[in-house]
Order: sequence, then structure tokens, then C-alpha cells
Amino acid sequence: MSAVEEWAAAVTVEQLDEDPYPIYARMRREAPVCFVPAVGLWFVTSWAEADFAASHPELIDSSVTPSPLDRAMGGPSILVLDGDPQKRLRAMLDPSLRPRFVEENTPEIVTPIVESLLDGIVERGAADLMSDYFEPVSVLSLGSVLGLGEMDGDTLRRWFYGLAQGAVNFEDDPARWAVSDAIGAEVDRSLEPVLKRLWETPDSSTIAVMLQHADGSFEDRVATILPTLKVMLLGGMQEPGHAAGTTVAGLLESGHAAAMAADPAGLVRDAIEEGLRWVSPIGTQTRRVRVETDLGGATLPVGANLGVLVSSVNRDEVVWGPTADIYDLFRPKRNHGAFGFGPHFCSGHHFSRVQMRIAVQRLFERLPHLRSDPERPPVFSGWEFRAPQHLHVRWDA
Ligand code: HEM
Repeated sequence: MSAVEEWAAAVTVEQLDEDPYPIYARMRREAPVCFVPAVGLWFVTSWAEADFAASHPELIDSSVTPSPLDRAMGGPSILVLDGDPQKRLRAMLDPSLRPRFVEENTPEIVTPIVESLLDGIVERGAADLMSDYFEPVSVLSLGSVLGLGEMDGDTLRRWFYGLAQGAVNFEDDPARWAVSDAIGAEVDRSLEPVLKRLWETPDSSTIAVMLQHADGSFEDRVATILPTLKVMLLGGMQEPGHAAGTTVAGLLESGHAAAMAADPAGLVRDAIEEGLRWVSPIGTQTRRVRVETDLGGATLPVGANLGVLVSSVNRDEVVWGPTADIYDLFRPKRNHGAFGFGPHFCSGHHFSRVQMRIAVQRLFERLPHLRSDPERPPVFSGWEFRAPQHLHVRWDA
């Protein structure tokens, strides 16, 4: 065993959760494709190798086994399918998430949610932006787009936290399964009447459009779309809010918040793209090797599971230069990998971007003197999903 393999064998889940970036940096330098026994995955940490791994399904596909996702989602979702079955689900999903449709319809959904949450905190002079603002914006906005407008924000937040316990359970922890199995059953029970209603009286929501485009009886259609719907209840609900919180944490930490407050409309696009790059909210695309493949100096055996780390490639010094670890609002523009590479590129990226722009822009327009709470700095955690757990801020009310 080489020195770097020996070191990687000692990496723990706790270390990854606390701060994966120094671990990824060493891997990029010394072994860009590297087995990490603690999670049973080969980590692919550099941009070129990750792009290759996620874009060649004939060599490396998505049918990971055993997949914590399958159990957490209650069956195979779009994330673990390839070829025609994946394309069919994409064809059901994409019509309600197309750029033009999203640009036309999303602002009227998100803006009232944003304004009402800001009305609720503006006089307080202090807030935890994660639980008081970004997470509710995120769940209520997507809830409405999906067709779950009647669900309350706390229930939707509880769902995504519960499903996440199972989706990332690579270490097979029974306590995590207990939480995610219970939430999975609750989601099924709660969605049954909603699905029935959207089937009988369809509207332009994502669930209604998916049901229309699926095949077979109502029950067949529900069985086809339900695991993929849970993917959206998890990633889609959680991530735009988390990425928006990360963006604000980055602006405050880097000293670029004042520049942002001076021109929120002009700078918001760059601000959120840099937030998505700096701490990518979804860390990996999980994949399985179909055909023995040489990648990044390693020979990957058939059946090996890979963690294609978009969070690491977004810090790859070869692409981003020596300041890759820093949030920089004025970084020269180029594409980042936060929405993934290859055929599974995120279906919700237009919607996420529009939602984040509205939430971050209006926050700085209404609270231009936003500052960190010096007694409670943000603490990031997670490697599969990463975001500040809290974002305590103050302003002059
Ligand atoms: C900032 C927010 C988001 C980020 C960073 C993000 C990131 C990603 C990434 C990295 C993937 C690829 C996963 C893989 O290949 O294993 C993905 C896939 C996906 N995302 Fe997102 N996502 C976000 C928001 C959303 C939202 C709001 C929705 C729903 C409207 C959504 C729906 C999906 C779906 C359905 C897939 C699977 C696509 C496929 O397998 O073809 N995402 N996302």
C-alpha cells in the first residue's frame, strides 16, 4: 500500500463531515482517484477525471449497488437509471422545468414567499437566515412548483432532513435508516391524496405534468414517478436554500457583502454562481464501474462504486487557480460543476437559479447593512450535502 493509500484508508466519515476540503486537496495532488474505505467509494476529485467519469455511461453508469438512495427513495429513481428509462423520466420532468417556462412562472411564485418572510423578520434586527429565511423560501417555492402548495414549510423541511439521513447512509447506520424509513412512509401516505387530485384535475405543476407524461394506470404512473419525486423532495427542497445561505456566508466572510449591497440586482448572478462553486451543496454524483477503466492513475475494477466529487472539482486549483478555496465575488466567470456533469445534469438548475437570485437580491435590497453575528459564526458541515447549519446575522432594525 502506498503512503497516500494508507492515509486514505484512515480517513473517517467524521473528518469528511467536518471539513472534506483539505482531504480532497491532498487527493487531487497525490491520487485524484482514490479508494476511501470509510464510505466504500473511490473518490474522483479532479475536474478532468470527474467530467470523464460522469459523462461515459457505457464505462461508468449510475446503477450503484447497494444504493442507499434506492432504500431512501422507496425504489429506483432517475438518479440510478441510465439510457432509455432515465430519458423517459427526464421527458416527464423537463416540460415543467424548461428555462422559458421557469423564467415566466417562477418569480410570481417565489416573490410573495420572499417578501412575506422578510416582512416577518425585518423589525427584529437579527435572524438565523437558514431556518428563518432560506430554508422556508426553498421548500415553499418548490412545494408550490411541484403541486404541494397545501403542505406547510416545517413538514417539508422535516421530510428533506429525514430522507437525507437515508440517502447518504453509505455506512449503513441503523439509526439513520430508522429516521429515513419512517419519513419515507409518511411521505407516501401524505402524497397519496395529492397525487390523486393532480391526476383527476391536472394543472401546470411538475407532479401533474409527470403524471400526464407517464404510462399505464394511475397506480403504474405513481409507482414510476414516486422515487424520482422523493429525489426532488430531498435535493430540490434542500439545495437552493442551502446554496443561497452559503452565498451569503461567503459574501460576509470575504468582505464582499458591502459591494453586493451597493448593487444587488447587478451582482446577484455572480454572487450565487460563486456560492455554488465555493461550497457545492450536493457533493457527489455516485457511479458504478461497468467496464474496467483506468482513470487518474488508478485501475477501477468492474463493480467499484465511485463518488464523483463535484464539490472537489469546484476547488480544483488547475481550473480555479491558487485562490480556489476562497469565496470571490469578482472571480473571472467560467462554468462550475455544482449541477453535475453528463446525462444526469440537474433538471432543476434553472428553477434553482431563479429562486436563489430572487431570495438573495431581495435580502440585500431590504437589509443592506447585513452583518455576521460575531458571537455565532456560521458552522458548515457535511460532505455529501454541505451547508451552514445556522447563519446568524444582525442588522440595524
Ligand atoms: C442549488 C440547487 C441544486 C443543486 C446544487 C443540484 C445539484 C444536482 C446534481 C449534482 C445532480 C446530479 C446527481 C447525479 O448525477 O447523481 C442533480 C440531479 C437532479 N436534480 Fe438537482 N440540484 C439542485 C436543485 C434541484 C431542484 C430545485 C430540483 C427540482 C426541481 C432538482 C432536481 C434534480 C433531478 C430530478 C435530478 C436528476 C436528474 C437525472 O438524473 O437525470 N435539483 N442535481
